[in-house]
Amino acid sequence: MSTVLVTGGKGFLGSHIVAQLAARGDNVRIFARPSTKTPSLLEHTNYEFIPGDIRDLDAVDRAVRGVDYIIHVVSNFRKGGSDKQEAYAVNVEGTENVLKAAEKQGVQHLIHCSTIGVHGTVLEIPATETTPFNPTDLYQETKLIGEQRVWAFYRETGLPVTVVRPISLFGPGDTRMLKLFRLIQKGRFVIVGDGEVLFHPTYIDDVVRGFLLCLNNPQAIGEAFIIGGEGYLTLNELCQLIAKELGVKPPMLRLPMAPILAMATLCERICEPLGLEPPLHRRRVSFFRNNRAFSIKKVKQTLGFEPQMSLTEAIQKTIYWYQQQGWL
Ligand SMILES: NC(=O)c1ccc[n+]([C@@H]2O[C@H](COP(=O)([O-])OP(=O)(O)OC[C@H]3O[C@@H](n4cnc5c(N)ncnc54)[C@H](OP(=O)(O)O)[C@@H]3O)[C@@H](O)[C@H]2O)c1
Repeated sequence: MSTVLVTGGKGFLGSHIVAQLAARGDNVRIFARPSTKTPSLLEHTNYEFIPGDIRDLDAVDRAVRGVDYIIHVVSNFRKGGSDKQEAYAVNVEGTENVLKAAEKQGVQHLIHCSTIGVHGTVLEIPATETTPFNPTDLYQETKLIGEQRVWAFYRETGLPVTVVRPISLFGPGDTRMLKLFRLIQKGRFVIVGDGEVLFHPTYIDDVVRGFLLCLNNPQAIGEAFIIGGEGYLTLNELCQLIAKELGVKPPMLRLPMAPILAMATLCERICEPLGLEPPLHRRRVSFFRNNRAFSIKKVKQTLGFEPQMSLTEAIQKTIYWYQQQGWL
């Protein structure tokens, strides 16, 4: 039986990966900060827990000892604001720590979780793995540098690596999209701009299946894959779908883009020197601004990946989970 280390295994994506690995019989080890809460999804799952911070090479080294494969998921994803030092330390140096430890311990395959955010505002629609990088904020910039370090390490050492760039995730366990669902339900969701920006929502189980298809797969070594749902739609269309499943009217409120963007930039400039998380930042505004529309052709053709969840069913399952938590 192989042992798989999942860094960030208690986060949204990480916990779903851990649950699926354990369900198929792998030994699973989680590396996470001791303070990280255990999601309910993992309450009945068997795993070994190694506490530590990804910025601590010794701790990462201890976690990697004796593992066959690594799925490196840790990122400062939820902190989109302005802490440059932390973003760089976690997304770049943390990734370097995992690479070094993986090579030292002779790990057979490392999957690095990147993001479609490295393509930022996409320069072609749909974007593919070879679409030029165009990061537009600190998170995307540092995720791109992290990914580039993975490729440089691969060229220098030959460590077997795969890069996965998941498309915008949602589903049970996610709280980021909860705001959207809640505000739509309450009739308070305000669309910034014209709402014609493209969005590519992806149900969590489909992306997890993609990660597991890559793991220990020779076809995946040395490759980057964009993994996500079948298609994209406009934000207006997405809101209409969510509203329909919630049984409410679609959002009608709108605000112009330019002043909101100016306000976000100002918030960042004020908060950054004070070390505060800005209440509004450009990354949040990018939700209304950056087209996210991707092709999953490469992962389909190379690894036989097929998303299995329709968007309507994914929205229904997510609403059901939010309702079970008492959040909707
Ligand atoms: N969600 C999406 O739509 C999406 C889309 C594309 C790519 N991704 C990528 O997918 C991955 C997972 O995202 P997610 O949505 O699951 O976010 P998440 O729930 O925030 O997971 C990230 C995990 O990283 C951990 N972490 C952060 N800093 C750490 C540190 N210094 N040391 C150890 N652990 C640390 C967090 O633990 P704490 O609780 O201790 O902070 C958290 O468990 C990330 O690499 C992200 O870039 C996500």
